[in-house]
Amino acid sequence: MQNGKIFTLTGDKTGDDKINIEDLEWHYLAGDGDFRSDEITQLRFEADIIITNPPFSLFREFLAWIVAADKQFVIIGSKNVITYKETFPLIKNNKMWVGTTSFNKDMLFVPAEEFDTTQKPSTATRSVEGVVYLRSPAVWFSNLDHGRRHQPLELMTMADNLRFNKKMQGKTAYETYDNYDAIEVPFTNAIPSDYDGVMGVPISFLDKYSPEQFEIVGCSYDYGRPENWNKDIDMSVSVNGVNVYKRILVQHKKAAQ
Ligand SMILES: C[S@@+](CC[C@H](N)C(=O)[O-])C[C@H]1O[C@@H](n2cnc3c(N)ncnc32)[C@H](O)[C@@H]1O
Repeated sequence: MQNGKIFTLTGDKTGDDKINIEDLEWHYLAGDGDFRSDEITQLRFEADIIITNPPFSLFREFLAWIVAADKQFVIIGSKNVITYKETFPLIKNNKMWVGTTSFNKDMLFVPAEEFDTTQKPSTATRSVEGVVYLRSPAVWFSNLDHGRRHQPLELMTMADNLRFNKKMQGKTAYETYDNYDAIEVPFTNAIPSDYDGVMGVPISFLDKYSPEQFEIVGCSYDYGRPENWNKDIDMSVSVNGVNVYKRILVQHKKAAQ
């Protein structure tokens, strides 16, 4: 098997006053292209921005490799990585955030040639106008700023949510967790504008998160325990004895300060 290729664009090599594919130079890599190799690590040092779709199985290691060199990055990762022990502190401390991709949609990828597109549709694929794509519950992660993360969410008060928000229908109050002092907010659009305490929100909150509006104080894992919380508190969330899916713990910025 051939080694991978490295393409370099330095300028108008052909001299035709156009920068295009003809100006690319390339050569084979000396090694197998593993990002952990000296050859690729050297390229990392040269890079201003790292943009790629790393293998999900090596996501933590790849992110650590980027962060160790303090590089800007735009990479694809599974939505689940948000609450990984290694990743969550970066999100909490605003060193990494999600791009403008929606949490309510999956990413579609054009399959490699060897993929059997005649196979039956499954949850791993999606057919759009007769073309079968691979479907992945993934989003962009980056430390490049973008406008969406500075747009505050428009929110209603707690009383108005209980009266008018269809998602809160049938409830007379927000539930609180059995094990700690925070309210359960099952939908991002039901975050009350006037609650000063800690709120547990779904991870899909993160595509609406603005650091000027909210502070992320933790998540529902031991390593996500907010700094001033008692070490004995069980961090796995439940309401009336029923376990709740992973939660990000947030507080209105003005209340957290
Ligand atoms: C999710 S695919 C993305 C492929 C391509 N970048 C794209 O967007 O279509 C991840 C790629 O990483 C490669 N890969 C796996 N382990 C790697 C490693 N240790 N170092 C570098 N690349 C690796 C795989 O061969 C695969 O091509």
